[in-house]
Amino acid sequence: MLTVNWKSVSDAVSERAFSDLAPELAGAHETLAARTGLGAAFTDWLTWPGAYDRAEYDRLKAAAARIRSDSKALVVIGIGGSYLGARAVIEALGSPNYNLKQKDTPDIFFAGNNLSASYLREIIALIGDRDFSVNVISKSGTTTEPAVAFRLLKTLLEDRFGPEGARRRIYATTDKARGALRGLAERERYETFVIPDGIGGRFSVLTPVGLLPIAAAGVDTDALLKGARDAMQRLDARALADNPAWQYAAARTLLYRAGKTVEVLACYEPCFRFVGEWWKQLFGESEGKEQGGLLPVTLDLTADLHSMGQYMQQGLRNLLETVVVFDTPDDLLSVPFDPEDADGLNFLSGMRLFDINRRAFEGTYLAHVDGGVPNVVVHVPKLDAYHLGALLHFFMLSCGLSGTMLGVNPFDQPGVEAYKANMFALLGKPGYEKQGAALRARL
Ligand code: PA5
Repeated sequence: MLTVNWKSVSDAVSERAFSDLAPELAGAHETLAARTGLGAAFTDWLTWPGAYDRAEYDRLKAAAARIRSDSKALVVIGIGGSYLGARAVIEALGSPNYNLKQKDTPDIFFAGNNLSASYLREIIALIGDRDFSVNVISKSGTTTEPAVAFRLLKTLLEDRFGPEGARRRIYATTDKARGALRGLAERERYETFVIPDGIGGRFSVLTPVGLLPIAAAGVDTDALLKGARDAMQRLDARALADNPAWQYAAARTLLYRAGKTVEVLACYEPCFRFVGEWWKQLFGESEGKEQGGLLPVTLDLTADLHSMGQYMQQGLRNLLETVVVFDTPDDLLSVPFDPEDADGLNFLSGMRLFDINRRAFEGTYLAHVDGGVPNVVVHVPKLDAYHLGALLHFFMLSCGLSGTMLGVNPFDQPGVEAYKANMFALLGKPGYEKQGAALRARL
């Protein structure tokens, strides 16, 4: 199971402060578990890995098997919490180059997460004349980005396979009863999966929102859920020494109170990039409220040491850094011997890249700590489905705890609506006419 090393944080925050925070952590945990806090109606993710609907899950695995057998590509249409979790898991376990690999699972394309015409046209071109399916994921069904992409791809499917063939290739993940997509799915008789009422988008990766595309990509979803379920049990411990989620939530809360305003999440595996994007939404949307909250930022290391390393070492000292480290090598690739030694690297010959990467992490950790950036290190035993499931649950619980201690509602996102109202007004959506003229005058 994962562990948290917060040794370096004690330079900025005393051990005493950690133990003094324990009652507050216990209170926050109890508030979450008893469902009495702000946004409590959206905390079903807390027990989901043990409570999900087994019959729906079996149907989901059958749908994923069908997609794998009848499609060379799957287009996953969704934005924010309706796509980041799936992409995070597929890239972490299947590689950022998943689509380029030789495999017996379909290519996965993510659409509906922007409004770029060239992006969507390119996906359509990359699918070419191959058989494909669509998983449209939207709680409301009216979010502009996925709704526009779905119109286009639905038309493409209907042109290619006819209305009945298209119907069999469209899977809708949406609200169980309400919303535009639910209505459309029922009219058109698409196979549907439910976005649970009590789980918001950014906490939904282990629901059908994430699981259908993840299963279609061939990831072992049983192991992913088992990892989350085991983490759920272990992270229910109500003591700082026993609960890594408490330790992480405590470190970031105390550092925030000590004046840090930016949390940088770093990882030394490039395939982790979209877990970082998922983490950014999780913490940013949960805590960025009432003019407060740590700004979540991500680094891909070692690449970003050559672009952001200078700032990390000597820029504004408002940073804390959280590093996710995988402790087991997944590849034994090592540096070859070169008789010429023109690059002077023979001192590394025979050494595994895993070990060189590890020394890079250790050197960077010490440099950043010496430079005044406290580091919290999350050690994960291995990068596989089981441990990734545990890590996802760990981050969600830590987020619920620290958001509760921050005193905000960690489970709503009222600020996301502001841009939408302006965009609708500028697009001339019926009902928004008055605001449109006023907004245009300001541009
Ligand atoms: O976390 C969230 O709630 C958001 O990111 C939503 O998932 C996102 O806005 C998409 O909304 P919808 O699923 O209604 O299309």
